[in-house]
Amino acid sequence: MLKVSSIISEDIQIIYNDLKDSLTEIEGSTWLISGGGGFLGSYFLDLLNYCNEKVFHNPCKVICIENFLSGTPERIKHLQNNQHIQIIKTDIVKPIEVYGDIDYIVHAASIASPSFYRKYPIETIEANVLGLKNLLD
Ligand SMILES: NC(=O)c1ccc[n+]([C@@H]2O[C@H](COP(=O)([O-])OP(=O)(O)OC[C@H]3O[C@@H](n4cnc5c(N)ncnc54)[C@H](O)[C@@H]3O)[C@@H](O)[C@H]2O)c1
Repeated sequence: MLKVSSIISEDIQIIYNDLKDSLTEIEGSTWLISGGGGFLGSYFLDLLNYCNEKVFHNPCKVICIENFLSGTPERIKHLQNNQHIQIIKTDIVKPIEVYGDIDYIVHAASIASPSFYRKYPIETIEANVLGLKNLLD
């Protein structure tokens, strides 16, 4: 099985320790996370996966929308065949169809690195405006 780097694993452990009292509230919830292959989004995925594997009796379900415009598939490859995490390779600028109720939406599909948003200015604006609308729809 593929593993995340030890630095990320340590980060997840620290984040979990800091948040553990409030994380019980999200047990069994369903998440829609855009940009799950990016810096922030992938930490959400890893934290929820950590809770599912080590803490929760009732796991969270996670739907990740990612087009890998700037994120790399390798970053979340270890979650690819995870039974609770669905990674959908698509663009949030296009209408999204998701079935079932969503408890939490995290919009992390926005390019944050200057070298990438200078290269993809229109895509960055569209992900923030049309992508946010599509997620909320
Ligand atoms: N990184 C930080 O420290 C930080 C702090 C505060 C707020 N933010 C905000 O959080 C958001 C995410 O930041 P980040 O650092 O994770 O960025 P990032 O560039 O690392 O990740 C963005 C991800 O979104 C994906 N993406 C881009 N357009 C997409 C589209 N149309 N459809 C699907 N996926 C798409 C990219 O492939 C990438 O994986 C940004 O809005 C940023 O401003 C970041």
